[in-house]
Amino acid sequence: MGVNSPLTVRPATVTDVPALVELAAVTFPLACPPSTTAEAIAEHLRVKLSAEVIGGWVAREDSTVVVAADGDRLCAYALVVTGPCGDPLAARALATVGVDPDHIHELSKIYALPAQQGSGIAAALLDACVAAAVDAHGEAPVWLGTNSENARAQAFYRRCGFEVVGERTFNVGGRDESDVVMLRA
Ligand SMILES: CC(C)(COP(=O)(O)OP(=O)(O)OC[C@H]1O[C@@H](n2cnc3c(N)ncnc32)[C@H](O)[C@@H]1OP(=O)(O)O)[C@@H](O)C(=O)NCCC(=O)NCCS
Repeated sequence: MGVNSPLTVRPATVTDVPALVELAAVTFPLACPPSTTAEAIAEHLRVKLSAEVIGGWVAREDSTVVVAADGDRLCAYALVVTGPCGDPLAARALATVGVDPDHIHELSKIYALPAQQGSGIAAALLDACVAAAVDAHGEAPVWLGTNSENARAQAFYRRCGFEVVGERTFNVGGRDESDVVMLRA
């Protein structure tokens, strides 16, 4: 799919943090299965997607944050974290298929507003974020976890070259959700 969009894809800066917090709050629920409660989502936003946490992504050397913006308005973002895989279940799945979980990029987040979905911007954002992480830290396989019921995201990731290599759980607001682990070697 080609990109048919006026959006600018660029690295995030510290001044983007308040808008990233808002974008994360609007888009995180889109990745959750219907069984995830509003309370669990609210707790996840409070603890895992706060201004402090998101400011940390922008500041940390091992994190790469890229946004798609329509002028001043952020419409999508992606986060790649580079280094040892911090998830024991995912690390085991990666090791099982012969990938060293200690030297790897994680596509930790990719979220687009509904109006931008299907435009091709998500693939451009994924490419830009991984390319920036590779520039900063070198070539390595890329893994991600996504909810096992998130069929759209899984279709998108498969089209971007990922395949399912295992499973893990992902805690949202105190409740373990079932994820697939996907890899682009
Ligand atoms: C995941 C996301 C970034 C992908 O971006 P996108 O613009 O929607 O992706 P695309 O439209 O390029 O690709 C989506 C694919 O899913 C398919 N699809 C659409 N709706 C679907 C559905 N309900 N079930 C299964 N597949 C579906 C599309 O046909 C397309 O596949 P194809 O290119 O092979 O035909 C975006 O959907 C999003 O932000 N979703 C909400 C947040 C989220 O789930 N983020 C991922 C968390 S891990």
